[in-house]
Amino acid sequence: MFRLIYTSSQSSSFDRLGFEQLCDTASRNNHAVGVGGLLLCNDLEFMQCLEGPHNAVASIYKRITQDSRHTDIRLLMSEPASERLFNNWSMVGLAIKPRSVLSAEPIAYTLLDHRLYWPWKSLGTSAVDLMFEYAKVKSELEKAGDTGPLSKVFEVYQP
Ligand SMILES: Cc1cc2nc3c(=O)[nH]c(=O)nc-3n(C[C@H](O)[C@H](O)[C@H](O)COP(=O)(O)O)c2cc1C
Repeated sequence: MFRLIYTSSQSSSFDRLGFEQLCDTASRNNHAVGVGGLLLCNDLEFMQCLEGPHNAVASIYKRITQDSRHTDIRLLMSEPASERLFNNWSMVGLAIKPRSVLSAEPIAYTLLDHRLYWPWKSLGTSAVDLMFEYAKVKSELEKAGDTGPLSKVFEVYQP
């Protein structure tokens, strides 16, 4: 098993439809080769985690780096891993809602990490911590049988 995490800058901003289409393609292709992960999207950037067999992850990543919908791709982590962070997710997209539209309802503290709204590039390699935190949140919510709180902070797209 291999894990790869990168950040990139969006070439043009993504609307909901563009993001859904991207997640659909990613999910379909990844599922076919046993790859999974998470695609995070804020107003300007992407951060993606790809997990699966080394060759499959490498060839998907190569295709991704050639995609003109984003630029300035920075590889943050690329290493063998013993277990998946995002089991059963062939590619789930979480687009972060603008802070201004977040509801006033109490939101799980962990989900509202202020670093969500920082340019991820400014975090350097510690941006990977966000991925690990969201994996933890995901597994806690699943254990509690309620992934609903995710949609308070994110536009969740799970093909
Ligand atoms: C931010 C971003 C993330 C992407 N993630 C994936 C992915 O996980 N898997 C994938 O197959 N394609 C992904 N793509 C799309 C690929 O660059 C490429 O368009 C796609 O794999 C082509 O698939 P198709 O030949 O089935 O149309 C991503 C593109 C972008 C911009």
